[in-house]
Amino acid sequence: MEKRTLGRTGRDVGVVGLGAWQLGADWGEVDESDALAVLNSAVEGGVTFIDTADVYGDGRSERLVGKVLKEHLELTVATKMGRRVEQIPSNYNLDAFRAWNDRSRENLGVDTIDLVQLHCPPTEVYSTDAVFDALDTLVQERRVAAYGVSVETCAEALTAIARPNVASVQIILNAFRLKPLDEVLPAAQRAGVGIIARVPLASGLLSGKYDENTTFGPDDHRNYNRKGEAFDVGETFSGVDFGTGLEAVKRLIPIVPEGATMAQFALRWILEQPGVSVVIPGARNPDQVRGNLGAAALAALTEGQLKAVQTVYDELIRPQIHNRW
Ligand SMILES: NC(=O)c1ccc[n+]([C@@H]2O[C@H](COP(=O)([O-])OP(=O)(O)OC[C@H]3O[C@@H](n4cnc5c(N)ncnc54)[C@H](OP(=O)(O)O)[C@@H]3O)[C@@H](O)[C@H]2O)c1
Repeated sequence: MEKRTLGRTGRDVGVVGLGAWQLGADWGEVDESDALAVLNSAVEGGVTFIDTADVYGDGRSERLVGKVLKEHLELTVATKMGRRVEQIPSNYNLDAFRAWNDRSRENLGVDTIDLVQLHCPPTEVYSTDAVFDALDTLVQERRVAAYGVSVETCAEALTAIARPNVASVQIILNAFRLKPLDEVLPAAQRAGVGIIARVPLASGLLSGKYDENTTFGPDDHRNYNRKGEAFDVGETFSGVDFGTGLEAVKRLIPIVPEGATMAQFALRWILEQPGVSVVIPGARNPDQVRGNLGAAALAALTEGQLKAVQTVYDELIRPQIHNRW
């Protein structure tokens, strides 16, 4: 698989990674053997970058990733911290970071975490020097090799990129979320900051497999967070109203390259955006993992395909999304 350098971490990672939120909670039941099968099929298929968080299943995802990491020290594992407490800026301090880091290191079974990301903290946190001093301290103490941020908005991303030691920015980027192309990706490229593209399939919408009759279980955020009841609504279907998303997908189906799935096409589109380091589709079973890995081998998209994505975005998605995130 093609490898790219993940910003200031200096690490080279395969362009298709794995998002491990599904292995924690919030996506319906994924039992332990299925979760380990997802992780093992990813590693066997050439994935070298896995994204998790301390809050996914309250540590379950990290512990499962830790099991696989023990056997595959070549992996780069990124976790996130900060969403197990009330979301107020004063909760982001060195003592808290050390305690959260101790727990994540134990869950992952490592002394030094490859990359820790602030997990969509309150916006003021990005402008607080003491927060970044504390993150520098974690690096000095070798608790983490590098740190980055996972952001909700482009404005937050730009503030973080201006910080000298932010190694990477994780942001929603997909065919329904084009705003990062305007300023964030160019700024990250200029600064040498890595871009981790999350929610690449718009929570599954861009796989093309849902229709008007699709329902999601009570323990699935695509049911309980449709209006942002539990966390930022942008994390569920990328913030796109489900019906609008279905309509947009219908318009994209005819431009999917022959022999490719819609999911592969959607992931390939992301990989072709200059500045992207790695894309992290989430998966609930090994077939999804293997399908997503196929995106790395797809031929470059044509001008016509790229233009069609832009047109569908401009006509259907932009009014709901562009000014919000
Ligand atoms: N705030 C944050 O920092 C934050 C927020 C969100 C996500 N993330 C990270 O980003 C990762 C990816 O985002 P995401 O998981 O939210 O959304 P996503 O990757 O856009 O969508 C994942 C869903 O797409 C479907 N899918 C995946 N591969 C498929 C395939 N090959 N064919 C058909 N369907 C497929 C599955 O849906 P079904 O379940 O319906 O099968 C899967 O649960 C997460 O796992 C997490 O690591 C971080």
